[in-house]
Amino acid sequence: MADTITVTDNRTGRAYEIPIEHGAVRAMDFRQIKASDDDFGLMLYDPAFTNTASCKSRITFIDGDKGILHYRGYPIEQLAEQSTYLEVAYLTIFGELPTKAQYDQWVHEITYRTLVHENIKKFVDGFHHDAHPMGMLVSTVAALSTFYTESKDIFDEETRHLQIIRLIAKMPTLAAFAYRHSRGLPYAYPDNDLSFTGNLLNMLYKMSEAKYKPNPVLERALDILFILHADHEQNCSANAMRAVGSSHVDPFSAIAAAAAALYGPLHGGANEEVLRMLTEIGSVDRIPEFIKSVEEGHGLLYGFGHRVYKNFDPRASVIKRLAHEVFEVTGRNPLLDIALELERIALEEDYFIRRKLYPNVDFYSGIIYQSMGFPVEMFPVLFAIPRTAGWVAQWQEMLLDPEQKIARPRQLYLGPETRDYVTMERREAKQQVPA
Ligand code: ACO
Repeated sequence: MADTITVTDNRTGRAYEIPIEHGAVRAMDFRQIKASDDDFGLMLYDPAFTNTASCKSRITFIDGDKGILHYRGYPIEQLAEQSTYLEVAYLTIFGELPTKAQYDQWVHEITYRTLVHENIKKFVDGFHHDAHPMGMLVSTVAALSTFYTESKDIFDEETRHLQIIRLIAKMPTLAAFAYRHSRGLPYAYPDNDLSFTGNLLNMLYKMSEAKYKPNPVLERALDILFILHADHEQNCSANAMRAVGSSHVDPFSAIAAAAAALYGPLHGGANEEVLRMLTEIGSVDRIPEFIKSVEEGHGLLYGFGHRVYKNFDPRASVIKRLAHEVFEVTGRNPLLDIALELERIALEEDYFIRRKLYPNVDFYSGIIYQSMGFPVEMFPVLFAIPRTAGWVAQWQEMLLDPEQKIARPRQLYLGPETRDYVTMERREAKQQVPA
């Protein structure tokens, strides 16, 4: 049997044989299908890309029905158990696990790039005391492009490598500065003796002690959470990174766009919403009433549902186990009882079963972050820091893919036909509605 599909255009009676490759057809192969000679040709309509592959990728594999997530072929459970975030970052970017020498070099390069220009403190100072740290992060990471003007040279491998290192290294510093500003605390500088997550905790929580000592359990828990968040194939923010990067802008500007996409409550902002939701529910006995309101269409059960996972999110399973280790140190977060009961009830409800809605990564991550002392607004920031590895990996893969061009979708124009301009005095008032 040939790996092709035959499409018959019933408008003309003509048949077209279209190749199938990797389980997909090329949208451009449909352009030849025309009703007449002056016809533009058939387009594919797919709002929100629910069934469109925008790229070929070798980074992350997800089987949503089976609840499988692999980075470069390695199961997420094994990586969470045995790897470190920086090793996973290396894996997503270079495609293979590093040798000891490569790993040491990589960690060294990142550790010694964590400082940011002193001027950055000045514009962080300019933000209002209650500015959302995600707003500050999006702005400051975009501003980095003005400090590293050579970053525009995206097709020079060495320059690209340097910006990748800078991005991974400096995101925690920018995030910590945003946090310290919101608390009215002096900025804490990176400590090169500490691990990636140990140093983040240092920059966030260091007070007057000469040397900050992170709790090893929390340091490792954060590292595992970072592994789980490193990449997730063509999600909203990765798509933003690729789309904006496809204009060949510098990576700092593209990451600002990706981080902005992550900020939304349907994406990385969901963990923040979960915490607000659990706090609002307040007690286990109020859960049925809350579930009923969701089923009646009054809002979402945040932390549930996923575009790709229609069984379970393997990251949520790892996080659920991790929560218990964290609570050994921090004490049990009372919101956990509400979350567990909410999950139990929701999974028995016809509404959620029919729609295949299961807890996603954000359902439990917020509870852990809260127990570790992070304020709710920092949750999406704690997502953006590790996702930087995925963003730069996706960006580089896009740049090096000879098939990629500037991302520029088509549209189906359904607006008015050509009409003549009407002068103001001759216009009739029309209702002002968004159209
Ligand atoms: N609570 C209640 N109903 C839901 C939820 C939810 N969390 N998620 C989906 N539904 C319903 C929708 O209303 C829709 O119902 P309908 O068929 O009666 O109209 C149906 O389930 C299908 O949902 P869609 O929104 O079409 O699914 P989509 O794939 O477009 O959206 C998304 C996926 C955005 C994650 C969605 O499930 C959602 O909004 N979840 C809550 C926000 C959230 O937790 N986001 C984090 C995602 S993971 C991440 O980014 C790290």
